[in-house]
Amino acid sequence: MKYTVNMTSNKNSKDGSILGKVADFQQELKQHEAAGLNNYKKHPHVSACDRESLVYNRHTNKTEKLVIFGSNSYLGSTIFPEAIEKATAVTKEFGIGSGGVPLLTGTTIYQTELEKVIAEKTGFDDAMLFSSGYTANLGIISGLLRSNHLIIHDKLDHASLLDATVLSGAKMLRFKHGDMNHLRKILEANAEQYPNGIMVATDGVFSMDGDIANIPEILALCREYNALLLIDDAHATGVIGEKGAGTLSHYGITDREGIIVTGTLSKAVGTVGGYITASQEIIDYLRIYARSNMFSTSLPPSVCAGAIEVFKKMDSSDVVEKLRENTVYMQNALRTAGFNILNTETPIIPLVVGDIEVLTYMVKDAFDNGYFINAIVPPVVPPNLTRFRISVMASHTKEDIDGLVDLIIKLFEKYNLPRYVK
Ligand SMILES: Cc1ncc(COP(=O)(O)O)c(C=O)c1O
Repeated sequence: MKYTVNMTSNKNSKDGSILGKVADFQQELKQHEAAGLNNYKKHPHVSACDRESLVYNRHTNKTEKLVIFGSNSYLGSTIFPEAIEKATAVTKEFGIGSGGVPLLTGTTIYQTELEKVIAEKTGFDDAMLFSSGYTANLGIISGLLRSNHLIIHDKLDHASLLDATVLSGAKMLRFKHGDMNHLRKILEANAEQYPNGIMVATDGVFSMDGDIANIPEILALCREYNALLLIDDAHATGVIGEKGAGTLSHYGITDREGIIVTGTLSKAVGTVGGYITASQEIIDYLRIYARSNMFSTSLPPSVCAGAIEVFKKMDSSDVVEKLRENTVYMQNALRTAGFNILNTETPIIPLVVGDIEVLTYMVKDAFDNGYFINAIVPPVVPPNLTRFRISVMASHTKEDIDGLVDLIIKLFEKYNLPRYVK
């Protein structure tokens, strides 16, 4: 059977009913299943997901050991022994949950200490925790913006920033990815209508392309037009900047005036949770008016305690440097071999294939050869930019990386794909 992919079943269904699209999606899933290539149904990990993981292969019904090039735990911190030990001890003492929202029982010494650690790491007055990076973005944008405000997004901003904007009711405009002239034009055209009412929001490191936002220029424009700058450092924390301090540190920017940063504990910090870090006045306000914090249960204390150990290790070891070395090694190998990995400067390495069907078969082949890589397909990216999203980790060996590059070369040959897919 020809494998066809129709990724439109989330649009309104033909009959317009609420559940019509659910039925449409079932049809779509059947096609994927019939081809033995259901991208949505995952092969579950049956061990910690670090450099190597045991994965249950749904096709063969066997558990296999794979080298993982798909985890966001870039530092390998999910299995840092210090973090596991501390989180285990705190679980024994405090139990498995926080038992309440932050303003009720949900604040322990571990939440408070972690907020202090994050504020110090990022160079802001204070920080506040959320149950995820997604809810941190909901909290900041819907907490601060109203319908008389304007938010300007980079075209590739993360979905959570866009969802937050819908929730806030603010007017949204988007500038072409990384295009400073376009951003200037939008600011110029709107500054008068929105005095003191504009926020520019951008990912620090873009989650699918791995490139770094041009913060010095964006910040200069924000200051020129009196706009606030929001940076989502989800993929920057622990990855770029001094000892993983993030995007502002990467550019050596020390003045925090007019800047707010959000981030997550779910990527390089290796656990779960999100944060906002900003001036004391902004954090004081958001503790009451960021609804995704106020009305949502706090992280378990053990999660916070484990995260504190990860931040300590970023500062006290060479783990961030090791990640950088591996990143440069892998990027050089792929670029030298002639592959299109866009403008990435980080462990997120996009490898454009441009064909959903071929990519899906390639991912399966990689799996059969002992490597786990993520396939990124629409609606996350447009069909022509369908790609592998390779994630490098500090814990990868040179042999792991060489092995994957060799395999990629073979797979591009097998499917007769040009290495430089535009
Ligand atoms: C840029 C960006 N922001 C925010 C998030 C959300 O973070 P979390 O997974 O902690 O909700 C993600 C993760 O997917 C992300 O890539």
